[in-house]
Amino acid sequence: MTNELKGKVNYSINGNIAILEVDNPPVNPLSSGVRAGLSESIAKANADESIEGIILTGAGRSFIAGADISEFGKSYDGPDLHAALREIEFSNKPVLAAINGAALGGGLETALVCNYRMGTNQAIVGLPEVNLGLLPGAGGTQRLPRLIGPSQALKMMLAGTPLTAKKALEQGIIDAISENSLIEDAIAFLQEKIGLSEHPKVRDKNEKVLEARGAENVLAEAKALAAKTRRGQFAPGQIIACVEAAINEDDFDVGMKKESDYFLECLMNPQREAMIHIFFGERAASKIADIPKETPLMPIKKAGIIGSGTMGGGIAMNLANAGIPVLILDQDEKNLEKGMSVIEKNYQMMVDRGRMSQEQKEMVMGLITPTLSYDDLSDVDIAVEAVYENLDLKQEIFKTLDEVTKGDAILASNTSGLDIDAIASVTNRPGKVVGTHFFSPANVMRLLEVVRGKDSSDETMATVMSLGKKMKKAAVVSLNAPGFIGNRMLAGYTHQANMLLLEGALPNQVDSALESFGMSMGPFRMLDLVGLDLGWRARKLADIETPLANKISDELCERDRFGQKNSKGFYNYSEGSRAPNPAPENEEIYKEISNKNNIERREISDQEIIDRCILALVNEGARILEEGVAQRSGDMDIVYINGYGFPIWRGGPMFYANQLGLEEVINKMSAFSELDEEFWKPAPLLKKLSEISGTFGEAPGLDERAELLSFKNANMGGV
Ligand code: 3HC
Repeated sequence: MTNELKGKVNYSINGNIAILEVDNPPVNPLSSGVRAGLSESIAKANADESIEGIILTGAGRSFIAGADISEFGKSYDGPDLHAALREIEFSNKPVLAAINGAALGGGLETALVCNYRMGTNQAIVGLPEVNLGLLPGAGGTQRLPRLIGPSQALKMMLAGTPLTAKKALEQGIIDAISENSLIEDAIAFLQEKIGLSEHPKVRDKNEKVLEARGAENVLAEAKALAAKTRRGQFAPGQIIACVEAAINEDDFDVGMKKESDYFLECLMNPQREAMIHIFFGERAASKIADIPKETPLMPIKKAGIIGSGTMGGGIAMNLANAGIPVLILDQDEKNLEKGMSVIEKNYQMMVDRGRMSQEQKEMVMGLITPTLSYDDLSDVDIAVEAVYENLDLKQEIFKTLDEVTKGDAILASNTSGLDIDAIASVTNRPGKVVGTHFFSPANVMRLLEVVRGKDSSDETMATVMSLGKKMKKAAVVSLNAPGFIGNRMLAGYTHQANMLLLEGALPNQVDSALESFGMSMGPFRMLDLVGLDLGWRARKLADIETPLANKISDELCERDRFGQKNSKGFYNYSEGSRAPNPAPENEEIYKEISNKNNIERREISDQEIIDRCILALVNEGARILEEGVAQRSGDMDIVYINGYGFPIWRGGPMFYANQLGLEEVINKMSAFSELDEEFWKPAPLLKKLSEISGTFGEAPGLDERAELLSFKNANMGGV
């Protein structure tokens, strides 16, 4: 084996058993050295007459986390995975996969070529390739349907979520669970099989695929599921086509060949690059460039939430789901009762939908304790304030928290736009103060903006980022600047949507264009959902003249059209339904306001709608990057995909701009500058990168960028 190969397979012998241990930290992907090591070790064990059985396991916390994702899209080095797997499958001695942790993608596919599979209780198994724009390309689409039936296999591959060992045993993916020492149990299991004349091979199990032959509903249901849950994605259709081959082809190897062809098509599709960008982008976002990796983390053993409204309740659920006991405080007993009952209902809904067992529900509910007294927060390690947006109120709460909590507790605010430094300034521990901006509903949305105040300590930041990971959030750091990252970008996007309405488009056209681009919800449906009256009321209260872009929505409010909350806004809603119906009665209002403001309404193309809304995100993103508010362009992609419904298969707005080409972005923007020169002025960083044919990924690091911004304006401007 040459030194350039990455990863290895350790070989040891225990009596008549060879133990092959995949060793490629931290999670044992099938890199070149592992592939070579597997072939060599199998050959070695087969050549050794004293060996009668082989155990394949992983070093550390994973079994095998799949193919090495960093190799996709690059020239392929080292031996072929299929060849290594064939040698395992046709080994002349029985092979048992001892699954000690994650067996994902190519990891599970490796286990499926073994004769037997045993897992620990910590093991998870899954085929998550669909999340990377790929399909299981090492036999998974042919073997899993043979093992658990095409219908279950399709569900698993289209969801991409792993199963626990217990579920995997129930479904027949693994043969046994080890309750004690995995290797000892695996040896005992294998010893019993050694004498058998034949050992099972998944490729030979045809019963379940034959049963599905001619049953059209299997594929039709999978297509319906993919259309519902993976709109716009390329890989799901390819997965279904592979399973169709597994069902209909008599020759296993013909199915395998089809899988390889369809895999290659996924590999060449731009969606694959976009989705792998997001995989690595999410992991990059969790790191803070100037905070050392070894920064000690504060243990978070107990948490407190202030405010039992929708946000507070959702945040409490996140903490409880991560196994952290949480006190939820409200000063109004009725609110508190209501908040607890909403939490209980949310969990019950999960039980009803089969996402959680009754036992699990009882366990998490048992971790959430309501309280009316601040004194109860004396021993929490973190307190998260989640009351409505009012600086005076938040400062009052932080003063109290500073007094009642232990000196080293972290104090976090769930503000969506207020100045974290102004909040920290009323405490004696500004280093322990941080923003944790969750997105509504907080128990569902994955995005968490972690707002770094000027004094937030390294330890505070590192601890909150790690807590974000424990809560399974996509955590992204933002500097303390107006609108942070997401809402600041959103302001330009909704501005353009509103202007398009004034210029001649209708809400339904704007929404349909952006939804066909892949956004989960168009801007006017979103505005109706949030409520048009929020901005209108705020402007009235502050006696601010309505800006041009908001004239239509303010006029709708004047006519009592607030959005979904009163069944009429940009759209009409029937009682109890969230489905938008066109509101032709509004069209006169649009025309009237356009006329009054001397805007000639015109026919607007869907492409113009997409370009103006999406490039508004990109240009503001470039400013955020040059100001250092976000650490890297990928962070903004993570924000938009996890918090604002941007299609993952386009890789986020900044990645989309890179794929379009920044020169093209500038050309399109300069065409729009006739409409609004100021708005379409390109951010200097965007201009510079376009001139050197660069991409956002190559933007200079934080240190080289302009001075870090401080919070200049508590009013982030309307969304
Ligand atoms: N290839 C390359 N690197 C990988 C990797 C993989 N398959 N899986 C994880 N890594 C890297 C991560 O990028 C990260 O690197 P970093 O430390 O430099 O940021 C490091 O390993 C640790 O990963 P996590 O932070 O995600 O560690 P966790 O402990 O939180 O999670 C895990 C572990 C559950 C295994 C998670 O990493 C994971 O889900 N990995 C991806 C699994 C996957 O998608 N497999 C399918 C690959 S495609 C495939 O197999 C194709 C085949 O069908 C032919």
